[in-house]
Amino acid sequence: MKFFIDTANLDQIREAQDLGVLDGVTTNPSLMAKEGITGDENVINHYKAICEIVEGDVSAEVISTDFEGMVREGEALAALHPNIVVKIPMIKDGIKALRYFSNKGIKTNCTLVFSPGQALLAAKAGATYVSPFIGRLDDISSSGIELIEKIRVIYDNYGFETEILAASVRHTMHIMDCAMIGADVMTGPLSAIVGLLKHPLTDSGLATFLADHKKSVEKANA
Ligand code: G3P
Repeated sequence: MKFFIDTANLDQIREAQDLGVLDGVTTNPSLMAKEGITGDENVINHYKAICEIVEGDVSAEVISTDFEGMVREGEALAALHPNIVVKIPMIKDGIKALRYFSNKGIKTNCTLVFSPGQALLAAKAGATYVSPFIGRLDDISSSGIELIEKIRVIYDNYGFETEILAASVRHTMHIMDCAMIGADVMTGPLSAIVGLLKHPLTDSGLATFLADHKKSVEKANA
């Protein structure tokens, strides 16, 4: 299972990279705005900075909603770095753009996916990744995890190579549920990734080991 971090915050990206478990980064216009990155040039430079920190795929989202605009923007983004993945919204012109980029060998991430039918269309159009937003479905009392399960079945039925990128992951249970189902990738906040390492028995066990070691050293030196 690949771990992507869902942020445009360079410090958090560095921290996840330093941990040694990071496979990529996803961003979106809201995450860029949250970091105060505005204006085309700053956005471009920010993507370049992210690509210098991580070795894996970095999703960069287009703002256009028409086919020509998405192609123009996506080609410019893809030219920035070999690891850039062009992030395309699940709309009619987005499907056409996914097929266009797929035919050109440019990696894509189909975003804002909320139904199995949308995921089927994205795979048919040759998307590299499909991003079902599980947290946002949970927000409206619909099961995000059930959506991942359905997409897994559909993709396995037909051998689609599109990778399921569970997005809008909010916490460790989302990650674990996605891992049990077989999502190919999850993208979430640093807190959810780091949260996986926490267990009170690990902490108390380590405290005991260290205390016993200290006692035996003291005894040997007495
Ligand atoms: O990867 C999609 C993500 O950025 C949306 O997350 O928490 O805003 O629903 P959230």
